[in-house]
Amino acid sequence: MTETNTTQDPVLVEFDNGIAFVTLNRPEKRNAMNPKLNIRMLEVLDELEADDRCGVLVLRGAGQSWSAGMDLKEYFRENDGKGRAAVLKSRRQSGGWWNRLMYFEKPTIAMVNGWCFGGAFTPLVSCDLAIAADEATFGLSEINWGILPGGNVTRAVAEVMNHRDSLYYIMTGETFGGQKAREMGLVNESVPLADLDTRVRALCATLLEKNPVVLKAAKDTFKRVRNMPWEQADDYIYAKLEQMLFLDKSNGRAEGLKQFLDDKTYRPGLGAYKR
Ligand code: ACO
Repeated sequence: MTETNTTQDPVLVEFDNGIAFVTLNRPEKRNAMNPKLNIRMLEVLDELEADDRCGVLVLRGAGQSWSAGMDLKEYFRENDGKGRAAVLKSRRQSGGWWNRLMYFEKPTIAMVNGWCFGGAFTPLVSCDLAIAADEATFGLSEINWGILPGGNVTRAVAEVMNHRDSLYYIMTGETFGGQKAREMGLVNESVPLADLDTRVRALCATLLEKNPVVLKAAKDTFKRVRNMPWEQADDYIYAKLEQMLFLDKSNGRAEGLKQFLDDKTYRPGLGAYKR
């Protein structure tokens, strides 16, 4: 893993006890996503997938912002000037890392520390879990400058928010805070900014106790079966379960049963077996 730790890098990566903190790092531009950042994020995700120091990935933003969405100058205006091929290529780069994030090998948490606008909703929803600061400000601002929410933002919003709330914010472009984001299901929780880091680390600790093969299978299965008919879902879930048992060389299922039934060292209802 190449650690990127200069202020010039659009993405910073730091490791701490099984957590990879990935920081969108253009604070002077409120972490707006430009082509350079999008290309780098694709590389970072590839590198972290194979890096044992990353048990959980936390996506956060430098400074006062999580991300102010797409870079309106570099992603839109400058690419428009280069022609259709450049526009399409740039879309593939941003969509590329958001899709990778959706089915990333490790659990992912969006740690929304500040501004979160427009295009930033797609990586937000692509993360498995999301914890916001009460002070964060969210907005589907596309309507304010003359487009509909593209880059799969409309689909991402529909995935986690209800019909009325989605249309309200898509059509008004009004902003809302962390607590409102939680009420609408856009994030799991919202806490005061001063507590955000502590809460995210505690959640990471919970995830790091679990069997990583099972975590990957469980999250992918949930994301894929939601749109399947009942019978296909039932079959897919069993297929995934059996694949998971094959891939889990630690034989976690047998160990979990043994520690409860024979050793009586834990209760599955109340916590994870010891790995
Ligand atoms: N694209 C390009 N540059 C941006 C973006 C962006 N999305 N957001 C901020 N910047 C730049 C500003 O142009 C400014 O650059 P400059 O210093 O060279 O003038 C710098 O970042 C700081 O921005 P300010 O507006 O001065 O910062 P402030 O803290 O006052 O406001 C806010 C922050 C509310 C996020 C504001 O910058 C803003 O509204 N940004 C645009 C948000 C947005 O609508 N994004 C697009 C969503 S739609 C989509 O993603 C498809």
